[in-house]
Amino acid sequence: MSLVPTVHLPDDLAAALTRRLAATAPTEASAQVDRLIENYRGATPTAAPVLRDAGDAAAYAAYRMPATYAAARSALAELRARTGAWTPRAHLDLGGGTGAARWAVADTWPGESGPRGTVLDWSAAALDLGRALAADASAPSVRATTWTRAPLSGAPELPAADLVTVSYVLGELTPGDRASLVDAAAGAARAGGVVLVAEPGTPEGYARVIAARGRLVAAGFRVLAPCPHSGPCPVTGTDWCHFAARVPRSALHRQVKGGTLPYEDEKFSYVAAVRPDGAGTPPAPAANRVVRHPQTRKGQVLLDLCAAAGDLTRTTVTKRHGPLYRAARDARWGAPWPPDDQPDGVPDSGGPDREGAV
Ligand SMILES: C[S@@+](CC[C@H](N)C(=O)[O-])C[C@H]1O[C@@H](n2cnc3c(N)ncnc32)[C@H](O)[C@@H]1O
Repeated sequence: MSLVPTVHLPDDLAAALTRRLAATAPTEASAQVDRLIENYRGATPTAAPVLRDAGDAAAYAAYRMPATYAAARSALAELRARTGAWTPRAHLDLGGGTGAARWAVADTWPGESGPRGTVLDWSAAALDLGRALAADASAPSVRATTWTRAPLSGAPELPAADLVTVSYVLGELTPGDRASLVDAAAGAARAGGVVLVAEPGTPEGYARVIAARGRLVAAGFRVLAPCPHSGPCPVTGTDWCHFAARVPRSALHRQVKGGTLPYEDEKFSYVAAVRPDGAGTPPAPAANRVVRHPQTRKGQVLLDLCAAAGDLTRTTVTKRHGPLYRAARDARWGAPWPPDDQPDGVPDSGGPDREGAV
């Protein structure tokens, strides 16, 4: 079993990418990818869109969109596990580019009446390609997406929504614009609504997520995932909290990006937080979250957990824990612990041993 969960692109998105990008010769896309990588390595933010034209947008969609889709889809799956029957009716995707989060939202809440959505971005080229890709979607909600050109610097005025995604965007903004965009996203979320911020799983990306998390909590939001609490993050020093999704590489992807492996692992950091509405039973975070690859030894599994008490702990689950041991053998980095279908899995006594902080 792979240690990193695989996230497959939905067939209709994979087909749309192949069809819409067929016009772009691989060598041309490859050159555009090289330029994009250079641009992203350089000093961002920029004063103008990085995705300047159709070639840039095509290169981005071929080279990055499968990975950003996988990160958003993984984070949304963890959010959905916390929110039960809740279904966002309106989705606002800030800096949505070619629409990765729109597809991920539609796949997380499938159905005829999936969340309707608006993508805001300052790159006309990215929006044009996003609109063209979405036209090929099987989900009516993706096809019906509104694509709007809008700068997100300053303090943008945003329409109200039930779910606001800010995925792989903050790194392209100045620190001041990051803060004001997160505040604007919080302001746009209706009561009971959620803001989800995702960034690359690097120390810098994690720092941006933690800063956003702090602003959301200060605005009265409750963290639902990945953290089991809304208090200070216990991951400090040189460590950073992140997760991973395995993305199979398509022929198109290999053409533009090279590489011999049939997959790549996208590392990402994220936070999803809800604005409590004071009604009914509010959604709650997991009791603990697995924050590293579980270590399987003979007859036991070691789980590194972020715990509701606000600390990092190591739990050892042994064969004597029966069904819980079997669950621990299937546990994966990024999952809740105990699994949601075994809510009583950590008894106060006779259960897994809790050791000191890792
Ligand atoms: C790395 S891409 C991420 C796109 C998409 N969210 C995804 O996950 O694939 C960053 C996006 O943010 C947009 N962006 C960056 N700065 C912006 C700004 N100041 N105003 C509006 N959009 C911006 C870019 O045009 C680009 O589409």
